[in-house]
Amino acid sequence: MQDITVRAMEIGDTKALAELDIKCFAVPWSEQAFRDEAENDLASYLVAVKDGELVGYIGYWRVVDEGHITNIAVSPKYRRQKIASNLLENIIKAAYNEGLVLLTLEVRKSNTAARSLYEGYGFLPLGERKGYYHSPTEDAVIMTLMLGDN
Ligand SMILES: CC(C)(COP(=O)(O)OP(=O)(O)OC[C@H]1O[C@@H](n2cnc3c(N)ncnc32)[C@H](O)[C@@H]1OP(=O)(O)O)[C@@H](O)C(=O)NCCC(=O)NCCS
Repeated sequence: MQDITVRAMEIGDTKALAELDIKCFAVPWSEQAFRDEAENDLASYLVAVKDGELVGYIGYWRVVDEGHITNIAVSPKYRRQKIASNLLENIIKAAYNEGLVLLTLEVRKSNTAARSLYEGYGFLPLGERKGYYHSPTEDAVIMTLMLGDN
């Protein structure tokens, strides 16, 4: 863990992010999708870098006083090393410091790895969206973390 650097996403990261997404999702984001996120003033993204290689990322959008986590992913080679935990902790702190009242996200019902990660940080399953995902079609669980006294 000591040799992992977490920093803000830069426009020059978009190619590596798109390559990482192919390894992590059935429906990956394109390089253009990451470029749009990098240029979106309402979006904040962090990347995790190890020995010069981009190995993970997380992002959220500010929607009024809420933070909506758009995605989190860690390269298969580097999983179970608390890299996602590190990214998520950074985003929780940033959202709290910005005065947001909650962080929320959708996750595939069958994604036990991600659901355990979120549960470990106090996110609660507060709803579902039927057929939210495609390839394959699946319901989403809405998980939300209230941010203390904000
Ligand atoms: C979900 C994901 C981001 C986790 O990344 P990671 O860096 O391996 O996670 P961490 O090492 O920080 O794990 C933290 C906790 O999450 C849970 N967890 C992570 N991977 C898990 C797995 N395969 N099975 C069960 N629980 C898991 C555990 O509670 C773990 O704590 P522990 O290691 O002490 O048991 C990673 O598996 C991934 O990129 N998956 C594909 C993309 C994805 O599904 N993103 C979520 C979109 S909503």
